[in-house]
Amino acid sequence: MAINVPTNMPVQTRAWGNVWPYAAARLSNLFHYVPRAVKSNATFKLSRYFYYQRYRSMDAPPEAASVVDQLRRDGIVIIPDYFPIDRLAPLRAEIMPALDRLLAGDGTLRENSWVSDEYGIARLLKIDKRCETSKAFFNDSFVNTVAKAYVSEDVQSFHRFGEVRATIGAVSSSDIRHFDDWRIRFKAWLLLDDIDEGRAPMVYYKGSHVRRPWRVNHDFEYYRDGLTGTGRAGTLILADTRGVHRGSPVRTGPRYLLANYFEVRKLQWR
Ligand SMILES: [Fe+2]
Repeated sequence: MAINVPTNMPVQTRAWGNVWPYAAARLSNLFHYVPRAVKSNATFKLSRYFYYQRYRSMDAPPEAASVVDQLRRDGIVIIPDYFPIDRLAPLRAEIMPALDRLLAGDGTLRENSWVSDEYGIARLLKIDKRCETSKAFFNDSFVNTVAKAYVSEDVQSFHRFGEVRATIGAVSSSDIRHFDDWRIRFKAWLLLDDIDEGRAPMVYYKGSHVRRPWRVNHDFEYYRDGLTGTGRAGTLILADTRGVHRGSPVRTGPRYLLANYFEVRKLQWR
């Protein structure tokens, strides 16, 4: 007898395919408690294997397919003029003066902010709660679709901030070549003004996000040429920061941007 399931009813499956990501995530957490003396390459690889079982891939919709392919290959995609200047104008008008005020020491903005005088960097955290215009970036459906297709259906945006970097010559710890983690850290940045080589662009070493034996020794990146994240205002930069990258100090003028970081933090039962 055919069972007629109305298409508007959610079909709950309790298949192994749904249980496994939870079970594997629990197993990978157990590896935190492995005694230091026993921790080895082998236990790390097991932990990493179980960790990655939590990622549930989603087919990229046609409009995002080529960007997702490029991310898988290079680890970075730069899309010039993603926000045309007229769409960007309200964001610039609200966010850039707020970042300037934060940098100048405006006490009313100190809550939910991070300022380093040493690095010459100021960040307005949870900026989507404070600057209404920033939601045009954080709610952007294309960026969120790429994040889901590239990372996992369960991906969440967990860190949203505006940043200004303005002190000429100040060097940040992030200016040294590094990768953020062996876990996927997917990040999207929207340049709020024109960024050239003198305005603290990020530099990314293409293809270095791919798991290869060289990563164990951390040395390969030092003879690769980096792709510099320069661009006009409105440029969108998407990157998997498992790849090697670095910041660069301000040499000529300030750099303003919006940042959106993604990660799988909580699995959603489906
Ligand atoms: Fe980083």
